[in-house]
Amino acid sequence: MTLIDTHGRVATDLRVSLTDRCNLRCTYCMPEEGLQWLAKPDLLTDDEIVRLIRVAVTALGVDEVRFTGGEPLLRPGLAGIVQRVAELDPRPETSLTTNGIGLGRIAPALKEAGLDRVNVSLDTLRPEVFKALTRRDRHHDVLAGLAAARDAGLTPVKVNAVLMPGFNEDEAPDLLAWAVENEYELRFIEQMPLDAQHGWKRDGMVTAGDILASLRTRFELTPEGDTARGSAPAERWLVDGGPHRVGVIASVTRPFCSACDRTRLTADGQVRTCLFATEETDLRGALRSGAPDEEIARIWRTAMWGKKAGSGLDDPTFLQPARPMSAIGG
Ligand code: GTP
Ligand code: 5AD
Ligand code: SF4
Repeated sequence: MTLIDTHGRVATDLRVSLTDRCNLRCTYCMPEEGLQWLAKPDLLTDDEIVRLIRVAVTALGVDEVRFTGGEPLLRPGLAGIVQRVAELDPRPETSLTTNGIGLGRIAPALKEAGLDRVNVSLDTLRPEVFKALTRRDRHHDVLAGLAAARDAGLTPVKVNAVLMPGFNEDEAPDLLAWAVENEYELRFIEQMPLDAQHGWKRDGMVTAGDILASLRTRFELTPEGDTARGSAPAERWLVDGGPHRVGVIASVTRPFCSACDRTRLTADGQVRTCLFATEETDLRGALRSGAPDEEIARIWRTAMWGKKAGSGLDDPTFLQPARPMSAIGG
């Protein structure tokens, strides 16, 4: 059985949000005061998360599991969850998307638990810009986390950067030079309308075109070609002939929905078919009322069958989902 939809796409990549909380307050994500976090009883327990992932991997054809947040390192049971998922048969590929705070301490334990690789968000090389953008003075912790992940072998370590006008829009070439030097794979992400404040404006965002033009002032970029992209959201370029690469995730100006292979689970046990889905399907209720694995799998398949063709971003009637990025899991 697979998670196929009516457009013929098969979801093999599961993104699991482990918490909606975060210890940063990125301006493109949430307000300074934070958000109304999910209540503890609403969160899936570690056992419930592992059970749902087991169903996805053993009965629904999922072969990649990514842990996200909010900030997933804030989940106390993270290493235990990773370990139990890495012990599943068949063993899925495991990865984590994090802001890097605390990674310096826990990277070796996560590797030991069976985590394959990490993606770390870092938008700037300038500590004062980091502080303005994330509203926290933690630049140094993120750099330490990145180095620890690389040294622990959680590779390839990818770095995600969002460029924001007035903060870091001029930093693309500096970030790339730094990433090449430090053996990180850098990807720039176009800002998406998923912020809790609903402040996104299409004409206020830095586009893939802007980013590539800025990079080309200092580097020669050669497209890797469509075949190399597969279902990955990043389009990639070789930097100065390679072997280093840079990616751009252009969800707004060059959407890749037709190749999407993702299914998502929120920290409170809802299936989301898409980042931009406005409806969710409850698995927690079924879990807690004693449904057998077959029933969980059936509900999940039915949800994914109804996945929409695209994000709807270009529709005049586009509505931002009620759940913000931090609670969806990026
Ligand atoms: P890898 O390249 O396999 O490491 O995965 P990834 O790039 O999907 O992972 P990551 O969690 O680092 O996500 C990077 C950015 O891609 C985030 O801003 C995500 O929101 C965005 N992204 C991930 N999946 C999707 C998707 O299905 N649709 C869209 N539009 N964006 C996505
Ligand atoms: N648009 C684009 N990327 C975003 N991220 C968080 N909010 C947004 C947004 N509104 C990024 C984070 C992280 C990744 C999971 O998503 O910086 O790198
Ligand atoms: Fe936290 Fe990520 Fe949102 Fe920044 S983008 S506030 S790191 S969840």
